[in-house]
Amino acid sequence: MKRIGVLTGGGDCPGLNAVIRAVVKKSIQYNWEIIGIKNGWEGLITGELELLTGYTVSGILPKGGTIIGTSRTNPFNNEKDVQRVIENIKKFNIDAIVVIGGDDTLSVAHKLHKMGISLVGVPKTIDNDLSGTDFTFGFDTAVSIVTEAIDRLHTTAESHHRVIVVEAMGRHAGWIATMAGIAGGADEILIPEVPFEIEAVCERLRMRYNQGKKFSIIAMAEGAYPIEKKLTDRKTDDKESFGQNIGKTNLITQTNEKDAFGNIRLGGIGHFLAKEIEKRMNVETRVTVLGHVQRGGTPTAHDRILATRFGIAAVELIKNEDFGTMVALQGNKIVPIEIEEAISKCKTVDMDLYEMAKLFFG
Ligand code: F6P
Repeated sequence: MKRIGVLTGGGDCPGLNAVIRAVVKKSIQYNWEIIGIKNGWEGLITGELELLTGYTVSGILPKGGTIIGTSRTNPFNNEKDVQRVIENIKKFNIDAIVVIGGDDTLSVAHKLHKMGISLVGVPKTIDNDLSGTDFTFGFDTAVSIVTEAIDRLHTTAESHHRVIVVEAMGRHAGWIATMAGIAGGADEILIPEVPFEIEAVCERLRMRYNQGKKFSIIAMAEGAYPIEKKLTDRKTDDKESFGQNIGKTNLITQTNEKDAFGNIRLGGIGHFLAKEIEKRMNVETRVTVLGHVQRGGTPTAHDRILATRFGIAAVELIKNEDFGTMVALQGNKIVPIEIEEAISKCKTVDMDLYEMAKLFFG
């Protein structure tokens, strides 16, 4: 009999419970015991664990969030914490761990695996920016929520003849803004991959107004930033990995606060742009920052199914002792890839897709 740990780390994401449920159900089939590690890596530092049974996971499939909690804890910020993690894995006889997380959580998994810990990964993030997998679960739900918001904002923008800026999540990659912008028919989509020129955005909006369209919807990712150099509130996301290859320098944020992985807290670019538009165009402009609404609540059917497939496949990887790997969706198949590959670089928006979306700008 094996004893398997499961943890969820980083920002929560619709579908986490669906993965947990699948991991538990599949493990029970193999007669393994499943231990929920509370609050991500923190649970392995403090030793806070709970037994998960078929009963515990009953009814959790449609529930948002994670029943075992999450946190942005990085044990590698402190050598003693790394030792505690390793000691607790031994102390509680955990044979292998299913690590459900995004680039930060999986980067810890990768380092621990190199130190001899048996684990497998499951790609989680609404941002959809992990390499090697076509999609992460949670992304589809976030896109649906933002699309619905854009649909709703259309009617109020049109009635008031306003510009409405919709700020979506997307730190290093603008997948949510792009997909929801296409689905919702946004008149402009601004993403971190393509720094924007404020005046060029205004010019396109003016052309739209001149054609008789007296309102506009701009879908933008929180990580989008202007090219213009003379910004007073300029900040750099100096995190050492993952997003660094994008080389952002003009991030607009409300605070300088960083999490345990060095991510600066984003938010504010929508308000910045709205002010610029009002100033330059003299058109009433409003901002909707969707924030954590995109991460909360029930997952779509697509995410429930993907999360379930990922959970089952992760248990199979453990059965085959294929450690250090992560389940990934490629085409319609779930395949194993190295965790290292998934975190090696940020999967940015497909520029063919973005070019297609531009047909509908203005
Ligand atoms: O997990 C990714 C993400 O959703 C980013 O898009 C966003 O910048 C960040 O999480 C927000 O994190 P928090 O919940 O810690 O504010």
